[in-house]
Amino acid sequence: MLQKHHKLEKNSILMLIFIVIVVSIGGLIEVVPLFRIETTIEKVQGMRPYTPLELVGQSIYIRENCSVCHSQQIRPLRDEVERYGHYSLAAESMYDHPFLWGSKRTGPDLARAGGKYSDEWHVAHLKNPRDVVPESIMPQYGFLMQQGAGLTDIKRRLETLRAVGVPYTDDMVKDAYNDAMAQAHPAGDAAGLTARYGKKVNVRDFDGQPDMTTEMDALVAYLQALGTFVDFKGYEPDMDEKTAGGNND
Ligand code: HEC
Repeated sequence: MLQKHHKLEKNSILMLIFIVIVVSIGGLIEVVPLFRIETTIEKVQGMRPYTPLELVGQSIYIRENCSVCHSQQIRPLRDEVERYGHYSLAAESMYDHPFLWGSKRTGPDLARAGGKYSDEWHVAHLKNPRDVVPESIMPQYGFLMQQGAGLTDIKRRLETLRAVGVPYTDDMVKDAYNDAMAQAHPAGDAAGLTARYGKKVNVRDFDGQPDMTTEMDALVAYLQALGTFVDFKGYEPDMDEKTAGGNND
């Protein structure tokens, strides 16, 4: 056996071939399980797809490139967890297409922005960030108040996401337009919306302009939903996660 190893060590080409074989075996063992993506995402309570209005808000977030300055992933490190809340779980971005984890934090992480501020704060902040945070360098987005939310293709958007695995039901697709309108008009009938997406859905006139459903409504609805779906009361991390440092108690 050792004799044969001699041969291997003296012949660089043979050595190279064996190195490639060994590294490929290691690589396959790491990579192949990830093809069965469902085994890599732990099951959590409360995760749901975005409502149609939140979904429009997400596309505005993408269009305006908010993720150039904001990440949406809280790492399991003590300082992050103390500042932003429970670290992000894989399940929390499983319905994001594309995911918006980002890689730069000119501004704070937004993975748990939902419920942190009032709608009025968000509207004032997006109109002119300096009005609420004097030292802010964030750009102004007041024009979102004037632009309609663009709901004409909302059904097709849900259908597209369904094609890539987001569990929108037939009813969700069929009533997408009505659900979007109902979410921004508290005087309307939101029973269908909450039956489909859960009672926790925010139904409000987000931008303070009751007669219009604007891009501002959609973006604020999206921001107010971020990181609020998972019910952490019933959440038990795996043992190896528990010992990996960073917890929020
Ligand atoms: C040029 C970088 C930049 C861009 C682009 C940007 N922001 Fe910001 N954002 C910041 C900075 C810096 C702060 C911290 C100061 C402040 O609150 O204004 C911030 C703060 C925020 C906050 C408050 C977060 C908190 O927890 O206090 C929200 C919400 C927010 N931004 C949303 C957005 C949205 C939505 C967009 C896209 C429409 C956006 N930002 C685009 C830089 C940016």
